[in-house]
Amino acid sequence: MLNIVLFGPPGAGKGTQSERLIERYGLIHLSTGDIFRYHLKNETELGKLARTFMDQGHLVPDEVTINMLKDEVLKQTDPKGFIFDGFPRTNPQAHALDTLLKELNTSITVMLGLEVEEEELKARLTNRALSSGRADDTDPEIIANRIAVYNRETAPVKEFYAAQNKYIAIDGIGTIDSITERLYSAIDSKK
Ligand code: AP5
Ligand code: MG
Repeated sequence: MLNIVLFGPPGAGKGTQSERLIERYGLIHLSTGDIFRYHLKNETELGKLARTFMDQGHLVPDEVTINMLKDEVLKQTDPKGFIFDGFPRTNPQAHALDTLLKELNTSITVMLGLEVEEEELKARLTNRALSSGRADDTDPEIIANRIAVYNRETAPVKEFYAAQNKYIAIDGIGTIDSITERLYSAIDSKK
């Protein structure tokens, strides 16, 4: 299996690039943010719980997120591999993902970290607010909080993969096509 963690701060292009990678490699795209938004929209119990955290730009608690992700992985029959987008975001999530994949006799192939500086992230998210309908895009303070949470709680997760020689930094600035090419090269070097 080919299992990719697509990593990076809010607005780095994880969702945009995942769409391309799943086509080329035949992978299943699991975005925990997208799954939570599906629950928000359908007003499930999980959605109601997640909303209180997401609308402020805080992380949903690990236990809730890990259980949801496990369900989504185990739901798939005979997958060729996964792209994890927006997961893992904490060290406990990274450990839980390792354990889960071990149970399936597989592991993470590579973590690709999209690197984009803060001013560009803010510009992208402010622009996306015009069309996304995402409550967490509309307020500059919440955008700033999402970036701060990323720097504090999520950025350290890359060390977990770097220690296993699985982290590759990708320049996330440029045209969408040029970044896709960088990702293809990095993946093909690890396959
Ligand atoms: P999540 O949905 O994961 O949001 P995020 O990490 O804040 O990232 P985004 O989806 O905003 O950005 P992206 O990197 O996908 O960029 P995109 O491709 O859209 O999480 C939302 C919330 O859910 C979290 O805050 C948390 O509350 C909760 N949550 C989710 N996962 C969790 C977890 N594991 N644990 C706990 N809580 C969790 O691109 C952004 C914009 O830029 C778009 O408009 C795009 O068109 C544009 N763009 C893309 N590429 C380029 C480019 N090269 N040049 C110019 N513009 C570009
Ligand atoms: Mg996204």
